[in-house]
Amino acid sequence: MIPAGTREDFNPHPLFRDMMPTVNFLTGNPGKLSEVQALLSPFGYSVNSFEVDGKVPDLVEPQAHDLTTVALAKVAQGVEILAQEGRLSESLLVEDSGLFIDSLTNFPGVYSSHIFQSLGLERVLKLVESNREAHFITVAAYWTGEIVEVFVGRCDGLISTKIQGEGGFGYDPIFIPLEGDGQRTFAEMNNEEKSRFSHRGKALRQLAEFLSEN
Ligand code: IMP
Repeated sequence: MIPAGTREDFNPHPLFRDMMPTVNFLTGNPGKLSEVQALLSPFGYSVNSFEVDGKVPDLVEPQAHDLTTVALAKVAQGVEILAQEGRLSESLLVEDSGLFIDSLTNFPGVYSSHIFQSLGLERVLKLVESNREAHFITVAAYWTGEIVEVFVGRCDGLISTKIQGEGGFGYDPIFIPLEGDGQRTFAEMNNEEKSRFSHRGKALRQLAEFLSEN
């Protein structure tokens, strides 16, 4: 096993990748999948999209006011599916993320997905007032095969005044992380640079540390 640490330059040979322990990640979002693959592979873990009969199972998103409740509800449903498939001893990762905008009293938060789909980025930009401070949070819930562990990552930043960049997904084109150069949005960074500062990067590096110790 490769100990936890920064291993951005580690690019395992495909043969070695087949021998790496696998983390099953239940997500319908290809952007999240590629970020998590890039994040965990340097630590010696291969990340698989969790599928049943070649399809990512649909999960019911509970009506909840916080990301932790949503992530725990999702992992519980995922573990139930593992049990039905006779795969209970396998791992399962789920995560829930949200964007919290200060001037909108932390909206959209747990409703980020709904607001992204219904309003879109341009209309979110119009809602933001002079205070442009915001943060992302990721709650990652990981079933080890025996227990669930929860990891939380936060990234502080500013909402840009216009859409900037082509990369990433979701709110990336309007979010400028403070830990970057304070100018570029996540959508103007590659995966590796985004993950260095991002909510998901912070949560998943804690998971990598946990995996290396257990
Ligand atoms: P969920 O975690 O899939 O429920 O994500 C909620 C919403 O936030 C969706 O619209 C995602 O596209 C968006 N989102 C989640 N993570 C990120 C991110 O890292 N950057 C930008 N948008 C994100």
